[in-house]
Amino acid sequence: MKTTVTAPAPAILLHLDASPRGARSHSRKLGQDFLVDWRAAHPAGQVIVRDVGHEPPPFVSEAWVEGAFAPAADHSPAAREAIAVSNRYVDELLAADQLVITTPIYNLSLPAALKAWIDQIVRVGRTFAMGQGGFEGLAKNKRALVIVASGSDFRPTSPGGAYNFLEPYLRAVLGFIGITDVQFVYAHSQNPGNPAGVTAVTEARAALRQLAAA
Ligand SMILES: Cc1cc2nc3c(=O)[nH]c(=O)nc-3n(C[C@H](O)[C@H](O)[C@H](O)COP(=O)(O)O)c2cc1C
Repeated sequence: MKTTVTAPAPAILLHLDASPRGARSHSRKLGQDFLVDWRAAHPAGQVIVRDVGHEPPPFVSEAWVEGAFAPAADHSPAAREAIAVSNRYVDELLAADQLVITTPIYNLSLPAALKAWIDQIVRVGRTFAMGQGGFEGLAKNKRALVIVASGSDFRPTSPGGAYNFLEPYLRAVLGFIGITDVQFVYAHSQNPGNPAGVTAVTEARAALRQLAAA
């Protein structure tokens, strides 16, 4: 009997940057280093870049709500336009095997631009379903990596961890849409003059090198 061996499809990575900073951003820098390693480990891999830090997604509007919940045939031109943006973000997410988010902690939580992206991609019928048994995430078979930069040490295990509302929120909302394999890597203590920040970046870099090869 003849057996056919099919090559696995090339991996697709969605890379999302949330810092409004450019070259000074610690989270972006670590994300770029990760990408170099990931590309070396996945030569046929494809990267989709979504820079919400520099091009923030629109906020949810009345037209967006109409676009998300009314039948497409009834959409006003404004609803069609608003939901087309959301559809583009959702398509990018659903196409990816892996999601990489690089982000600062802002005021104990996530930057507004990243929250705006989340509000665009959490969509009934597209990334989650409501059935008899409750909610079901539809963005399945993906893993996520979140690279976090913070001024203080907000790692969940540190004394400042009680102020970290970014990690529990992102775990909950990604899990809600079906992404439950989520890892966090921290470049903590980045406030100027703190030597712990230098060690944190070195350790984050080493952890990311291993994750890129996996
Ligand atoms: C508006 C604002 C709010 C911040 N809030 C926090 C915070 O709550 N906790 C913290 O540890 N650092 C906070 N920081 C520091 C940033 O997280 C830190 O500078 C980080 O390195 C920024 O990420 P980036 O280097 O990728 O731009 C804040 C910085 C700014 C500008």
